[in-house]
Amino acid sequence: MKAVGLTHYLPIDHPESLMDIELPIPRASAQDLLVRVHAIAVNPVDTKVRKPKDKVESAPKILGWDAAGEVVEVGPDCTLFKTGDKVFYAGDITRAGSNAEYQLVDERIVGHLPQSLNYEQAAALPLTAITAWEALFDRLGIALEPLKNKGKSLLIIGGAGGVGSIAIQLASKLAGLTVVATASRPETVQWIKKLGAHHAINHKLDLATQMQAINIAQADYIFCCNDTDAYFPVMAELIKPQGRICSIVETSMPVDLNLLKNKSAMFVWELMFTRSMFQTADMIAQHQILNRIAKLVDEGMLTSTLNKTLLPINAVNLRKAHAQLETGSTIGKIVLSGWH
Ligand SMILES: NC(=O)c1ccc[n+]([C@@H]2O[C@H](COP(=O)([O-])OP(=O)(O)OC[C@H]3O[C@@H](n4cnc5c(N)ncnc54)[C@H](OP(=O)(O)O)[C@@H]3O)[C@@H](O)[C@H]2O)c1
Repeated sequence: MKAVGLTHYLPIDHPESLMDIELPIPRASAQDLLVRVHAIAVNPVDTKVRKPKDKVESAPKILGWDAAGEVVEVGPDCTLFKTGDKVFYAGDITRAGSNAEYQLVDERIVGHLPQSLNYEQAAALPLTAITAWEALFDRLGIALEPLKNKGKSLLIIGGAGGVGSIAIQLASKLAGLTVVATASRPETVQWIKKLGAHHAINHKLDLATQMQAINIAQADYIFCCNDTDAYFPVMAELIKPQGRICSIVETSMPVDLNLLKNKSAMFVWELMFTRSMFQTADMIAQHQILNRIAKLVDEGMLTSTLNKTLLPINAVNLRKAHAQLETGSTIGKIVLSGWH
């Protein structure tokens, strides 16, 4: 099968940072599905794992944690899917990724493809949708019933990126929160407003002043999709007493949790790979989340965050997609589709 992989961790402008390779097609066992991958999306996790370092892989490493495709084989213990089912999933960071024509994935973290989307539109969603869903509803504990959220607000830092773009929709359309999201350019402001943000504020300017100007001096919830180190003090200032903050971006130094003490405010992490990495007892929650996302898309509540498609899936296009992600200015999602 065709695949794109690496053996050396090199800057993205190096032609061998990602290479076209041939690998044997794997076979499905236990609870694994073998999926023929039709479309993939790229995420900052791909560029973080690929970050230049001295390590050398003895066998090619396959990145990629977003895919849409068709089940071609099921393991003997599978009960949720059958051959021919169309699926979408993010996968498991501890296993080979989706930048390959065929991929093995545990069925408990796979969802049925939304009927109203093609493979490209669907591939844009899984990793970011699981992240946003788990952050808002599992970690921050936001109610799914809009009536319970009446008058409550959420600040999303980094609104136009892949995660922000789906979090805005879930928070405003499904949970009925008042959503303030950050964007620093006219095109990203327009993007987040179209997705359902009630207010746009600029992360390149003072956030507190802008929050006061829209009469939401402090938010009930804050979802941080960018530099946690830099935003921690301002998040402590902008969170309401007894409010909750969730971040998905690792810190490079210790943060001062004391800043939250007087407010009895909560800080919680979200990592969308936790459930698969630790094989948690509730790992099947990601199957359920993806099916729920698919239903919400088919009902017209959510839209795909796909913004750019590159054809076909190969090393040249994947290097282009990684290079764009590394600029930190991506709007919505970049998808690659087809193998020829
Ligand atoms: N823990 C997890 O499970 C998990 C899951 C997914 C992602 N992540 C992490 O979350 C982060 C965001 O992921 P993503 O896929 O949304 O990234 P992305 O699509 O690359 O985000 C791009 C967006 O970031 C915004 N941005 C740039 N500089 C910013 C700043 N200083 N402050 C606020 N926003 C800024 C840009 O908006 P403007 O162009 O308007 O400036 C741009 O639209 C990454 O670090 C990623 O690794 C973690």
